[in-house]
Amino acid sequence: MTDQSATIKIGDRTANLSVKSGTIGPDVIDIGALYKNTGSFTYDPGFTSTASCESKITYIDGDEGILLHRGYPIEQLAEHGDFLEVCYLLLYGELPTAAQKKDFDYRVTHHTMVHEQMSRFFTGFRRDAHPMAVMCGCVGALSAFYHDSTDITDPHQRMVASLRMIAKMPTIAAMAYKYYIGQPFVYPKNDLDYASNFLRMCFAVPCEEYVVNPVLSRAMDRIFILHADHEQNASTSTVRLAGSSGANPFACIAAGIACLWGPAHGGANEAALNMLSEIGSVERIPEYIARAKDKNDPFRLMGFGHRVYKNYDPRAKIMQKTTHEVLAELGHKDDPLLEVAMELERIALTDEYFIEKKLYPNIDFYSGITLKALGFPTTMFTVLFALARTVGWIAQWNEMIEDPQQRIGRPRQLYIGEPLRDYVPVSKR
Ligand code: SDX
Repeated sequence: MTDQSATIKIGDRTANLSVKSGTIGPDVIDIGALYKNTGSFTYDPGFTSTASCESKITYIDGDEGILLHRGYPIEQLAEHGDFLEVCYLLLYGELPTAAQKKDFDYRVTHHTMVHEQMSRFFTGFRRDAHPMAVMCGCVGALSAFYHDSTDITDPHQRMVASLRMIAKMPTIAAMAYKYYIGQPFVYPKNDLDYASNFLRMCFAVPCEEYVVNPVLSRAMDRIFILHADHEQNASTSTVRLAGSSGANPFACIAAGIACLWGPAHGGANEAALNMLSEIGSVERIPEYIARAKDKNDPFRLMGFGHRVYKNYDPRAKIMQKTTHEVLAELGHKDDPLLEVAMELERIALTDEYFIEKKLYPNIDFYSGITLKALGFPTTMFTVLFALARTVGWIAQWNEMIEDPQQRIGRPRQLYIGEPLRDYVPVSKR
């Protein structure tokens, strides 16, 4: 950490603030003493210039398009690792040895079943309820089943809850899908890997054996890796804030799911595919590019732009490669949606508006095409994002709990309402 400092003078009041440096990336100005010394708050709606915590988990360089998990580049993890290995890395900070990986896989695999009573929660929903609504309800309800792992001050209970979340999210997500399409729930099988187990729970039917396609399960596993964690994004910040009050981990993850649902965040993959379907053909792309630029039109190119990446989202490049692999394996390489997506990307990347505003495709731009090709309806896309991001939320939640500086998050405001005034009886209004 450097010993630089920053001085802020407001009127005759001065605050001398320390500047802290991390391993890599921007320094931070510790403004903890600002209000006490100057009587002023900082103001940063959307937190565009605000660091909320110290973290060792994920580093993003938006200008260079770099994403590291515990120092390892996402490209190498997606190429060489599997999702449970990345889960271990995010949770424990190091890549597992062969023995550690075997033990971790065994522990996760043997937590994949949910309490049989869970299935009754689903019957309370309409069949056409959005699966994300079902996920919010069912994941939050997990707190009702696991009283033996909600003491957040006990590291062992925190790790048990963490493993339970990682293990059970695919089962709950698959149950949400099966309920949505009116098919019977499929139990997990312990002899399948994480992604294969999930695909089987989604697509197997009692009438015939489900044969796992290794190309598709590898693609599913890689999609999980790409969505695993992403620094202090909106849903992760939601989980941290919920956790700062001491709420149990299942309730915190349910809060993260609710935030991820928004189309500006994890809901963008569903919105991006709906947008590509609405555009429908290459000929209509200029019409939508014009709409995206029109200040009076709320339309945005879904799957484009990012708060941090002002270069190509490194996950989008890997996602695009996975899309081609899946479509080729399924014989859909001439999918019209892919043709529209690639032409839209080509045009947008050469258009002055998008270049000036540094709007590049993000992870959500290609993921929808791949998930549709794998057989998922668009309403399940954000559920899959939530499934994969659970490990990131849980790792960040654990880090927050273990942070000696952590205290309940409680931002202040700039009040622009009415000054003090007296009550007026209704007869005089
Ligand atoms: C995710 O934070 C994370 O890490 C998130 C995520 C993760 O892994 O957790 O990466 C996952 O959420 C990816 C983002 C998915 N969202 C979308 O694809 C929705 C479309 N994109 C936008 O709504 C937008 O780009 C955001 C929300 C992603 C970022 O918004 P910002 O940083 O607040 O930027 P902004 O809205 O202020 O836009 C800056 C300018 C604006 O123009 P001006 O007002 O400056 O003239 O760029 C324009 C915007 O109008 N703009 C777009 C645009 N995105 C921004 N114009 C057209 N199409 C777009 N997609």
